[in-house]
Amino acid sequence: MARVFSGIQPSGDLHLGNYLGALRHFALDQYEYDCVFCIVDLHALTVPQDPEALARRTLEAARVHLAAGLDPSVCTLFVQSHVHEHAELSWLMECTASVGELRRMTQFKEKSTDQEFVSGALFTYPALMAADILLYASDRVPVGNDQRQHLELTRDLAERFNHRFGATFVVPAAAVPRVGARIMDLQRPTAKMSKSATSPQGTVGLLEDPASIARKIRRAVTDAEVEVRYDTEAKPGVSNLLAILGAATGEDPVELAGRYHRYGPLKADCADAVVALLEPIQARYAELAGDPAGTAAVLAEGAAKARAVAAPMLEKARQAVGLLPR
Ligand code: TYM
Repeated sequence: MARVFSGIQPSGDLHLGNYLGALRHFALDQYEYDCVFCIVDLHALTVPQDPEALARRTLEAARVHLAAGLDPSVCTLFVQSHVHEHAELSWLMECTASVGELRRMTQFKEKSTDQEFVSGALFTYPALMAADILLYASDRVPVGNDQRQHLELTRDLAERFNHRFGATFVVPAAAVPRVGARIMDLQRPTAKMSKSATSPQGTVGLLEDPASIARKIRRAVTDAEVEVRYDTEAKPGVSNLLAILGAATGEDPVELAGRYHRYGPLKADCADAVVALLEPIQARYAELAGDPAGTAAVLAEGAAKARAVAAPMLEKARQAVGLLPR
């Protein structure tokens, strides 16, 4: 069975973009592939974090994964730092990547611009991401559009390592959904919806109160025209609402556009669809929140399952580069 791996950072509250671009597909993939999903807490540390908030968000993120339908008896769900092989293989990947290719990463440029403090780890971040994926001999990596470049680098690093040291890693492929791979900020529809958005009005949290979600969608920035058309360049706000509605209902955004003649009804339907989509996730989350020990047990079991795959792969890579066996 082909292996799937993906990760989500617990660096802020998970939002609709994370769900439509990634998490939702995890739940579908688990019945078709051998799936490994990871809360990447080490990646979150690449930018300053409040320790208490990081710990809380890591548990919350795990709970959101379960609430979104991941079944730990079918897939593996764990926390990155619980499997030390990630940090160790990351070092070998840093030694495989060049400064030039790391410098070309657009996410590094975006995240480091105008920051007072930029950690070295923010720069080498894609090497850790490559390690995450390669440790599990992953074939397929479901991600949103913004991770494509990191996936390309992962493929390059795997190929370079295999070429230098002999066949060691599987070269993975990104699986980017056709609709929902790039959900934009509701207030600034030329920027992607993000955990670190400047205004919370542009982001829909997965655990947000339904009334607040509906309000944000009704107030989403559109444009001064009246025509409903799917055109991400000329009409980013309207196109984003069509993409969200399309992703939520399984319909094509271009076809959806033909059914609306005004923005008001589009916003109303979009709000209803998102609230209905998130309702069961929120209900399940509330149940899980009542049993924190249950989530911790799932994560402990997940880490043990993950380590059983990661440890032999790390050993293979260590020996390939000439490190003495332990
Ligand atoms: P992160 O935590 O920023 O995002 C998690 C997933 O959500 C997707 N996503 C979006 N999709 C659509 N619209 C958006 N506005 C949007 N924002 C985020 C992301 O593409 C991602 O799939 N580097 C990764 C985490 C990571 C990882 C990995 C992913 C670490 N190791 C190994 C895959 C495999 C990240 O920061 O994702």
